[in-house]
Amino acid sequence: MSNIGRDFRDALGRFATGVCVVSAFSKEDYAIGMTINSFASVSLDPRQVLWSLKHNAVTYGMFSSVHEYSISVLSATQKEVSNRYAKPGDHALLSGDFLVSERGIPFIQGALAVFECTNDQVVPSGDHDVLIASVSHFHAKGEQPPLMFYSGRYLDVSDQVVRSKPSPALSA
Ligand SMILES: Cc1cc2nc3c(=O)[nH]c(=O)nc-3n(C[C@H](O)[C@H](O)[C@H](O)COP(=O)(O)O)c2cc1C
Repeated sequence: MSNIGRDFRDALGRFATGVCVVSAFSKEDYAIGMTINSFASVSLDPRQVLWSLKHNAVTYGMFSSVHEYSISVLSATQKEVSNRYAKPGDHALLSGDFLVSERGIPFIQGALAVFECTNDQVVPSGDHDVLIASVSHFHAKGEQPPLMFYSGRYLDVSDQVVRSKPSPALSA
C-alpha cells in the first residue's frame, strides 16, 4: 500500500466503530459469517441499514449474491468471534457460535443486537460494493459494553456503559 493509502486508512481508523458479523446460508446451504465494521443505519422508516463489502474478499462471491442475511452487533466479550470471521479463507460458522432465526437466517449467539435483512441494492463504489438492505426483524439485548474497533485495534471499554446525552442543540 502507498504511503498516501496508508495515511488515508490510518485517518479513517480514528473513527471508532462497533464490530458486527454478517451471516447467511451459502448456496451450498451452510452458515457463513464475515466480520465487518462498515455497518451504518440509513433510514428509520422504512428500516434500512448498509455495509460495504470489499471486492477482493474471498467471500465476495458468497456475500454479494445472498439475498437474506443477518447483521449481529458484537459485545466486548466476543473478540474471538470477531477474529474468527475476519480470517481469510473458510468462513463457515462454528456450530457453537450461531443460532437460526424463525425465518431461517443464521445469527451470532449472544450478540448485542441482531438485524435480519433483505438486500435491496448493491452499489459498486471504488474497491467496495455498498449493500443497502431492509430490516425485516430485529432484536436487542439489554445494554452491555460493545466490542469496539479504533486505529486498527480493539478498544477496551469499561465494564459499564456510562452514557451522557449530547446537548439538546446536537441531539437528533
Ligand atoms: C474489525 C474488522 C472490520 C472489518 N470490516 C470489514 C468491512 O466492513 N467490509 C469488508 O469487506 N471487510 C471487512 N473486514 C475484513 C473481513 O472481515 C476480512 O477481509 C475477511 O473476513 C477476509 O476474508 P476473505 O478474504 O476470505 O473474504 C473487517 C475486518 C475486521 C477485523
